[in-house]
Amino acid sequence: MIKIINKIRIDFDSRLDSISDAKQLEQIRVEFLGKKGQLQELMQGLRNASPDEKPKLGKDINLLKQHVENKLNSKSACFGAKPSKKSSEIFDTTLPGRKELTGTLHPITQIMEEITSIFFGLGFQVEEGPEIETDYYNFEALNIPKDHPARDMQDTFYIEDQTVLRTHTSPVQIHVMEKREPPLRIIAPGKVYRCDSDVSHTPMFHQIEGLMVDESISFSHLKGIMNIFLREVFGKDTKIRFRPSYFPFTCPSAEVDIECVMCNGKGCRVCSQTGWLEILGAGMVDPAVFRSVNYDPEKWTGFAFGLGIERIAMLKFEINDIRLFFENDIRFLKQF
Ligand code: PHE
Repeated sequence: MIKIINKIRIDFDSRLDSISDAKQLEQIRVEFLGKKGQLQELMQGLRNASPDEKPKLGKDINLLKQHVENKLNSKSACFGAKPSKKSSEIFDTTLPGRKELTGTLHPITQIMEEITSIFFGLGFQVEEGPEIETDYYNFEALNIPKDHPARDMQDTFYIEDQTVLRTHTSPVQIHVMEKREPPLRIIAPGKVYRCDSDVSHTPMFHQIEGLMVDESISFSHLKGIMNIFLREVFGKDTKIRFRPSYFPFTCPSAEVDIECVMCNGKGCRVCSQTGWLEILGAGMVDPAVFRSVNYDPEKWTGFAFGLGIERIAMLKFEINDIRLFFENDIRFLKQF
């Protein structure tokens, strides 16, 4: 009888190897496992076996049955058929689950959303403007006339003589003031372009512009809002200072620094030993800008500010090369 068992096994294996569709598979299933199948016949034959042979033969027949069932199941998976109920017997519940890779927001998007939501909480509305600008919006209306030396501050990409990729988000100030009356409280996040590339500059980067216009807005409003905002982003003990500066569209103008987050003001390589990091440009809206949008500078005052998002993200996440943000290396992006 052992011989018959072995023969059936060899027979089954070679038959299974030669089949090519689900129908043939079903035929083999019936032939071997069916009510009148070869294994059933074997079981009946077992009755006539001698009592001392029976246990061993019974075990062999069971092993053969398992072999046939497992092979039929894995073969049926090849044909895309649903495994039969018995597949639960070969399902390994100890295997760890497969982890789905979930994506995360890009670090720049994260910082942009964080800053936007801080200003949203302070009553600012989000505005957008075009990335391709005319000379008028990018420069002229912002009190930067042709041949003004301030144009040298920004390495402009010219598309045509009068058309540029915006070099800052400040033109959004003009678009908004042209279509709306004060009071205004807006921020404008977006991409800007300058012809520059090294560890701290990329030809495209992101800025957020802010503008608040109302009656009797003063420099102290600007200081107050900058204080709240920078402490929210960098922690409530962040020290802040205002340094006099120059922008054609604000007067007086300032640059705002925070105490170096790397060395806590002691002086290090990141802050060039000064203990301070320049974070943003700001100032009171120049009356010439109000005049270009037909706002009465006697009635309205306001402040504006502009900051680079990459710079904030680099300081917050301690990243030393700005180009990493745009290389799309998954090993870098996965950390956020
Ligand atoms: N637009 C300026 C820049 O890109 C920043 C700025 C915005 C300064 C608003 C003052 C007021 O450098």
